Amino acid sequence: MNQIIELISAELECAFEKAGYEKKLAKVTLSNRPDLCEYQSNGAMAGAKKYKKAPIMIAEDVVNYLEDSTCISEATAVKPGFINLKIDPAFVADYLNKMNEDESLGLSKPENPKTIVVDYGGPNVAKPLHVGHLRSGVIGESVKRICRKAGHRVLGDIHLGDWGYQMGLIITELRKRQPELPYFDDSFDGEYPTEAPFTIGELEEIYPTASAYAKEHDEYREEALHSTYLLQNGHRGYTAVWKHIMNVSVADLKKNYENLNIEFDLWKGESDAQKYIPDMICRLKDEGFAHIDEGALVIDVKEESDTKEIPPCMIQKSDGASLYGTTDLATLVQREEDFDPDKVIYVVDKRQELHFVQVFRAAKKTGIVKENTELKFLGFGTMNGKDGKPFKTREGGVMRLESLISEINDKMFEKITDNRTVEEDEAKETAKKIAIAAIKYGDLSNQAAKDYIFDVDRFTSFEGNTGPYILYTIVRIKSILNKYREAENEMDALKVSEAHSDSEKALMLEVCKYNSVMQTAYEEIAPHKICAYIYDLANAFNHFYHETKILAEEDKDKQKSYIALLTITKKVLESCIDVLGFEAPERM
Ligand code: ARG
Repeated sequence: MNQIIELISAELECAFEKAGYEKKLAKVTLSNRPDLCEYQSNGAMAGAKKYKKAPIMIAEDVVNYLEDSTCISEATAVKPGFINLKIDPAFVADYLNKMNEDESLGLSKPENPKTIVVDYGGPNVAKPLHVGHLRSGVIGESVKRICRKAGHRVLGDIHLGDWGYQMGLIITELRKRQPELPYFDDSFDGEYPTEAPFTIGELEEIYPTASAYAKEHDEYREEALHSTYLLQNGHRGYTAVWKHIMNVSVADLKKNYENLNIEFDLWKGESDAQKYIPDMICRLKDEGFAHIDEGALVIDVKEESDTKEIPPCMIQKSDGASLYGTTDLATLVQREEDFDPDKVIYVVDKRQELHFVQVFRAAKKTGIVKENTELKFLGFGTMNGKDGKPFKTREGGVMRLESLISEINDKMFEKITDNRTVEEDEAKETAKKIAIAAIKYGDLSNQAAKDYIFDVDRFTSFEGNTGPYILYTIVRIKSILNKYREAENEMDALKVSEAHSDSEKALMLEVCKYNSVMQTAYEEIAPHKICAYIYDLANAFNHFYHETKILAEEDKDKQKSYIALLTITKKVLESCIDVLGFEAPERM
């Protein structure tokens, strides 16, 4: 379906042309005087110079040709030359009915769907998930869903950090603690145990212990580095330990992400890229893209237009070891082979921007990806505490994601059970849903690149611009619809008719913006625009609700139209929170 603003623009173009002016002047925007009109065009102002005419004269000419418009009920030329536009109420009602009948609520599908890989999450195996990982998961999940809703073929890849030094550290520490294990016996050639020699709890203790110890003890660090090297070169026993680490850790990660409604299509990691590295390096050398610089193999990526120094992308250290950039390039080789993507979006901490500039340039320059493959870095800012510093526990330690989630869960549980008697089980489920909404909306309502303050009290409030407020609004609509249904009223095929009040018309116009907002959120990779929209929409609904008796309405036709409007409002809100990655409970 065409967006409402496109339909209005088309009528305006027509009017400009008929009045003898260029149609490209006919740009329409949302009105900045909503008290006077809903849309406006400043085209007459823009045309004044070219036509050497007072803008008001142009505006008046154009307005004359809008008299029998189907979508504009009133067009007024106002000084100095604005064109104020009021939308025809019958047209709005008709538009809503069409949206209601369309399973994608009026969102058009692209003619040529793209294949898009979203690289997000990026946790490091065996290291506990901490709040720093929250943003990538939350934003990435939403970006993935936005692209999918826009009709593209989308793959979310977690891109685990599963091949680095942390593995060598764990192996070294494990050998120190349990040297008798067969993994450390080079003469052992039997089957290794299928059961891991540690639990997730132990693993999460082993890593920080080893990491701290290595910082103080050179010999230990050397050993860990060597273990990393041996693992990366196929050591049999270490590979077996690595598999245990992976199994234990991935099971835990799955549980954590599942709790956050975050689901990946691909559980690939840095380790999966390794097999592409040797051939890639060979080719880059042969074709002259890579050269030795101070012992390391590098690809130059600086460009003439650079205003600051962009260092070369390093792909092999002097000792032959590969680096972060090597892995990312090799991962692109793999993605090309497996999926041939049109676009790859990386949702990563913005402090890694330079790394991605280097990788993207190297990938383009060397033909690892095609010229028109879009490589996009969506860098996000830091999640801070109320003191403006990176979010910490009360004791000042790194906050584990699990603890944060359970803290907010408890808070929500208290809130909903405070003054109500809900069954414990239902209350728990509901609290969980609201907690996820609080966390995700709190994050996503900010522009991703900005740092933001994680304010638990504000995020969990049922009032204001919060996730719980949005859910509360949806639940309110559900409750009205349920009551209407219970009174055994027919719900299907109800139609919206012309608005009966200003607040109803305002709500209708908000609902109509759905496809345009989704499209923009996709084009700009901007979940925060969806948050801003549903906040406006929820406000418009609540305003209408407070001014209107719905269930008590005696005029049945009017009531039917209200119910149809509520139905579509609910669908739109639910579709929006779905792409934000959370859902509404039945009651709260
Ligand atoms: N594991 C990395 C980290 O914790 C993030 C990975 C981001 N994705 C990527 N393709 N490099 O910093």
